[in-house]
Amino acid sequence: MTFSRVIGTGSYLPEKRLTNSDLERMVDTNDEWIRIRTGICERRIAADDQFTCDLAEQASLKAIEAAGINNSDIDLIIVATTTADQVFPSTACLLQHRLGIEGPPAFDVQAVCAGFMFALDVADKFIKTGSARCALVVGAETFSRIIDWTDRRTCILFGDGAGAVVLKADNEPGVLSTHIHSDGKYKDLLCVPVGVSKNYNLVHQGQAYTTMEGGEVFRWAVTAMSDIIDETLLANNMSKEEIDWLIPHQANIRIINAVGKRAKIPSEKVIVTVDRHGNTSAASVPLALDEAVRDGRIKPGEHILLEGFGGGFSWGSALIRM
Ligand code: ACO
Repeated sequence: MTFSRVIGTGSYLPEKRLTNSDLERMVDTNDEWIRIRTGICERRIAADDQFTCDLAEQASLKAIEAAGINNSDIDLIIVATTTADQVFPSTACLLQHRLGIEGPPAFDVQAVCAGFMFALDVADKFIKTGSARCALVVGAETFSRIIDWTDRRTCILFGDGAGAVVLKADNEPGVLSTHIHSDGKYKDLLCVPVGVSKNYNLVHQGQAYTTMEGGEVFRWAVTAMSDIIDETLLANNMSKEEIDWLIPHQANIRIINAVGKRAKIPSEKVIVTVDRHGNTSAASVPLALDEAVRDGRIKPGEHILLEGFGGGFSWGSALIRM
């Protein structure tokens, strides 16, 4: 039987930091409110001439280097993003060209903040079924481009960034299981209610903004991300104690703490980057994974539970052995 393994991780954050004090000068808010309600102190914002593919490229190059492979070894590219550079071609195709790769399939998946979990699920299935042997899986976002910077309820939450992993076929599992879900009846609770086919004039006018029912999203995120931990452990016949690290989607420290508490996973085992990255949507989980791999917290052989939740609603998880 063939399995997929993570053999390299990488990430990239734009240089520009937007602190809570910067936001105090932009909207009616304050550092204390933002830190207490969200745990966020600062987030990174892409430069005007930086696009999602630029962030994805930097994260990918680091993951490829860490994996010790050549670009030409990659036979599948999946980019999870909500903020594609262009309507088409996909950001994955743009990335493929940057990396000088020709021929293998490259496509985007769109599941907002859960996007990386969906991309990982698809890539794992490609490898398990023998359709690919070496996949580049990226979560990359310039979410700052779909934020109303005059709306204090949303603009404090989000940031830009990218994370990537290289998955390789192996006889031993790496990725132990993946789980993905969606429920479109919650489509209006967290969305950008315009697009190419609907109200495109607003996109033209730069008014394609994220809207959110914060309290509802909060409750749902906690429930879905707690339940999927149980689902993942059950599928692997594992106990909570066997999880070395939990990497939840980084949206809000109160959501992360509530999920950890409900799942009875001690906070020392939970990787947190939301304080410095804000919510980077599809990039949040691979960014946090790469940080903890590079700083030595995550070690070979350890069990990591990754999970994401976002608009749709869509949510997902993966249990991996490093
Ligand atoms: N600064 C100061 N005051 C603010 C701000 C702000 N930035 N934003 C809202 N307020 C005010 C509100 O107007 C309200 O004032 P009022 O009582 O006079 O009406 C008060 O603060 C309380 O507002 P609430 O919305 O009730 O605050 P809450 O404690 O729910 O926190 C928050 C809001 C942080 C958005 C929270 O609901 C949340 O994090 N929800 C999850 C949303 C999320 O993470 N979305 C990301 C995408 S989905 C995902 O990735 C999981």
